[in-house]
Amino acid sequence: MSGDASTVHTDGIPPDALSKVQEYLEPFHLSVEKLREVSARLRKDLVRGLGKHSHHKAPVKMLPTFVRATPDGTEKGDFLALDLGGTNFRVLHVRVVEEEQKVLKMDSQICAIPKEMMLGPGVQLFDHIAACLNDFLVSQNLKGQTLPLGFTFSFPCEQKEIDKSILIRWTKGFNCSGVEGEDVVKLLKEAIHRRGDYDIGSVAMVNDTVGTMMSCGYRDQSCEIGMIIGTGTNACYMEEIKNVRRVEGEDGRMCINTEWGGFGDDGCLKDIRTEFDVVVDETSINPGIHNFEKMISGMYLGEIVRLLLVRLTENKLLFEGRTSEALLTPDAFETKFMSEIEERDGGLENTQNILTELGLKWDSVDSRIVRLVCNAVSSRSARLCGAALATLANRIRVNRRLDHLKTTVGVDGTVYKKHPNFSEELRATVRLLAPDCDITFLVSEDGSGKGAAMVTAVAQRLAHQTRLKCFYQSQKYQKYIYIFF
Ligand code: BGC
Repeated sequence: MSGDASTVHTDGIPPDALSKVQEYLEPFHLSVEKLREVSARLRKDLVRGLGKHSHHKAPVKMLPTFVRATPDGTEKGDFLALDLGGTNFRVLHVRVVEEEQKVLKMDSQICAIPKEMMLGPGVQLFDHIAACLNDFLVSQNLKGQTLPLGFTFSFPCEQKEIDKSILIRWTKGFNCSGVEGEDVVKLLKEAIHRRGDYDIGSVAMVNDTVGTMMSCGYRDQSCEIGMIIGTGTNACYMEEIKNVRRVEGEDGRMCINTEWGGFGDDGCLKDIRTEFDVVVDETSINPGIHNFEKMISGMYLGEIVRLLLVRLTENKLLFEGRTSEALLTPDAFETKFMSEIEERDGGLENTQNILTELGLKWDSVDSRIVRLVCNAVSSRSARLCGAALATLANRIRVNRRLDHLKTTVGVDGTVYKKHPNFSEELRATVRLLAPDCDITFLVSEDGSGKGAAMVTAVAQRLAHQTRLKCFYQSQKYQKYIYIFF
């Protein structure tokens, strides 16, 4: 497996220093057997999350999305999309063209969300979103129109209807008061009404994994898993309705937002968590929450590396035992540094520049050790993600009683897209743990923007169909998106 990339990076490190450093890195090297165990635990947790009586306490939430299928190509129109959940907040104007079956991004705008706002009152956050949306509408000459809006809100939400979504808990860097337990669409609409100078049409709420799957599904009909490895990590997939015990119905499939970031929150990953993971969790704004995510995603990987580097320096295995103010500052070692450091060509030079920037006095062995540390942390992340993805693929295959499954995964997120070895290592793990699944990886082109517009477009088409159908069908099904793979 390409986890052996770590041995490649050992060149130029004297054997005695290497063996001492390896002692610290050993807990990050997960054997294939261990990964299989992790996958087996997740398999059980998926079932717990889907169960009618077990889901309340399940760490992997397995949230029904009420999305039952992908676009059929007849969708059309202009849409607004909001994207909140990563490092930036975006507003987009998207046009779906029926004849060409194309989703066009007409324009978009990024709005910064100041850190204080990510931790302040929810009302302030939603007022800011409403103000950014207003600026965008003005700049696009769209004010006065009431366009339907797709809201990609990338946090765990209990979706009640396509336009009613209750935030279960904040993750990543957000922790605004007064939002958990509330309907996010209502909070957005209230903020817009407080302004009173514009309005929006119908709203469809989307998780970024679902947007990713839908936007890739438009290009490849067999896309039935969406995965994000960016600031946070998560995946959704098409589950048989009869297994989703919280939703009535026996036939067809529904997209489930797994929220796999919460895997391990009941302590089931204790054996693989290192002391550094424990510190990252304890010093985060949400201790005890999203343990799996904290071992994998971009918000945390750099900090794990920093803690390791500090420890190695304290034990005189790096920088002649001398740290720097930057190295001692939480979050100062950014995850993007790892991609630069692990670059096949030029990685060592990048390492040296970064160490200089961090105010450290390094020699060539130091820079090689730093590279080794980054590799151990990123490699563990890729393997854990691979194990989780293999679990989903195996589940789909078994659900359908197939000997062999051929499927496509839509992927997004900076860690997956930018890190030089990540995707290869993830794929190698999936091949090992899901040998009967043949998986194509499709990198999403703006799933959070275009995908949200796509879900909104489909919802609109179906709302129209449902209005006709509701003569024949019971009221409760009106809220579902009826689309079939
Ligand atoms: C959130 C998910 C989201 C993922 C990727 C996690 O922290 O809980 O809803 O899909 O990040 O953005």
